[in-house]
Amino acid sequence: MKSYLETIKNRRSIYSIEKSAPISDEQIVELVQQAVLHTPSSFNMQGSRAVVLFGEHHDRLWSIVLETLRSKVPANQFAQTEKKIQSFANGHGTVLFFDDTAVTNQYGEKFALYKENFPVWAQQSNGILQYNVWNLLEDAGLGATIQHYNPLIDEAVRREWSLPESWLLLAQMPFGAPVGEPGEKSFQSLEERMRVFS
Ligand SMILES: Cc1cc2nc3c(=O)[nH]c(=O)nc-3n(C[C@H](O)[C@H](O)[C@H](O)COP(=O)(O)O)c2cc1C
Repeated sequence: MKSYLETIKNRRSIYSIEKSAPISDEQIVELVQQAVLHTPSSFNMQGSRAVVLFGEHHDRLWSIVLETLRSKVPANQFAQTEKKIQSFANGHGTVLFFDDTAVTNQYGEKFALYKENFPVWAQQSNGILQYNVWNLLEDAGLGATIQHYNPLIDEAVRREWSLPESWLLLAQMPFGAPVGEPGEKSFQSLEERMRVFS
């Protein structure tokens, strides 16, 4: 087990992934479950939802994305799109992240003074969940990226896996054993990004 700092330093967007994993599917599910349980949320409202897709379910998701984009992307650019989507389909599984808007709206009604904040807090909490899952997958030796084909695919995803109307799709995280290195990454200076007063 790496230190937490090592894990967050090592977490990168890994686009080259394959259909295998260094841990079992049950262990992957357990990691996502623990992240869902322990990720904080405003007022502890716990409105984040996750769906883990393996095998043909994972393949089905990426064919939904591909078919949805086919009617949107200009024909002469589609080969590039197809290549990109295939790189995600090459993975072992995908985690879908949702906000249950029924919960978020309920809290907005209950705490009317902060009504406008709840959808923002819901997104923030979901971002923390996504990041926790990403770090846990990295720590387990998996590579992952975060993708956003919502809202284009929302209806098809809801229909395919019979998900509640109130679940709003926020992100898709394809993952698998890494088969390539992450790209170069530049860092802005901390002097520009941080101020310390002591
Ligand atoms: C809120 C958020 C949205 C992102 N959306 C996408 C996306 O839609 N597609 C993608 O390939 N990467 C996406 N990324 C990944 C970033 O491009 C990436 O994290 C950043 O360039 C730093 O690289 P690293 O992840 O390798 O550290 C997103 C990251 C964040 C935090």
